[in-house]
Amino acid sequence: MSTDFSSRWVRIGVHTGLIQHNVAIIKERVAPADVWAVVKANGYGHGAVEVAQAALAAGATGLCVAIVDEGVALRRAGITAPILLLSEQPPELSELIVGYMLTPTVATTMSVASLASAAAQQQRVLNVHMKVDTGMHRVGATPREALSLARYISESENLELEGVYTHFAVADQPDHSANAQQLLLFNSVVEDLRNMGITPALIHAANSAAALVNPEAHFSMVRLGIAMYGLLPGHGVKDECSALIPALTLRARVSAVRWVEAGEGVSYGLIKPLQKGSLIATVPIGYADGVPRALADTSVPVLINGHHCSFAGRVTMDQILIDCGSDTSITIGDEVVLIGKQGEHSVTADDWADALGTIGYEIVCGLSPRVFRQYI
Ligand SMILES: Cc1ncc(COP(=O)(O)O)c(C=O)c1O
Repeated sequence: MSTDFSSRWVRIGVHTGLIQHNVAIIKERVAPADVWAVVKANGYGHGAVEVAQAALAAGATGLCVAIVDEGVALRRAGITAPILLLSEQPPELSELIVGYMLTPTVATTMSVASLASAAAQQQRVLNVHMKVDTGMHRVGATPREALSLARYISESENLELEGVYTHFAVADQPDHSANAQQLLLFNSVVEDLRNMGITPALIHAANSAAALVNPEAHFSMVRLGIAMYGLLPGHGVKDECSALIPALTLRARVSAVRWVEAGEGVSYGLIKPLQKGSLIATVPIGYADGVPRALADTSVPVLINGHHCSFAGRVTMDQILIDCGSDTSITIGDEVVLIGKQGEHSVTADDWADALGTIGYEIVCGLSPRVFRQYI
């Protein structure tokens, strides 16, 4: 469910031109490696189909998602580019994977057998990517298992081992020794496969952070997620992100105003009695939309009338209450910027994340589907 700005004064704006700008920057940096755009979790909250279309228009040659439903939704929207499923899926989904020509990740013989049989039944040849666990210990065959698994895949007439890949655990900390260790292990697997006569077209390891800072990890493609959205993969790679621009804004309008006297509190719990009499603006967005309840306990500002304003009390499910101080000119319908720019000021999803002790990924993925997304 989503509502538009005319029926509800809350809106996410996604600037697809900025997605393209960010993709183009990374594409140039990693060339000649390909860029596959990671659009799982509804394109990190930005809208999977629209982000996918923008990324492909900017030169990405493939897409990555987490689950089969996400891949099917992209296919149903008419997207024909390769779509990699980033981890193994339950065997009962093999038929669907083949039917929609998604590219599954494989890491076990069970998964390979199930996909080979579904592909044989549908008389198709399915591309698969084998994932190797080189240290993240989340998904993947061990380097030793990978060799026999690759042999097993290459024996199937209905499967093509298009890719071999791994995933870094600490790419956002470029000096961490685990990066070099994972690369060493991955390179040795690729070399062993080559010695066995197995040379997949796509070798990949890099997420955004590694794409930005680790040229040795580029191989033949990178999996670009957070940097495409203009957000930071981590503070350890901040300098390399200076040309990226956040593509998402979160705006609302003031829905009510009232003067509240000093000593009175507002919202549930009445937890913060006002120091001075203030204009309190009600804004119709809450934690059900993705504004974390804990944000009211931080100093993250909300922008109204070009000013920094602060949370006056707890975030409620559908509304927040903002302390506008003595600015009595603020009125119903005035624009409220939660994420984005207003006048001289700006607030980013990364600002929210820093204040809350989390990462920008969690903030944008947490923006609820009920908020209307407008594409610019
Ligand atoms: C396997 C894999 N590759 C690539 C990415 C993209 O990472 P990032 O958003 O840091 O670029 C993710 C994201 O979680 C992932 O799980």
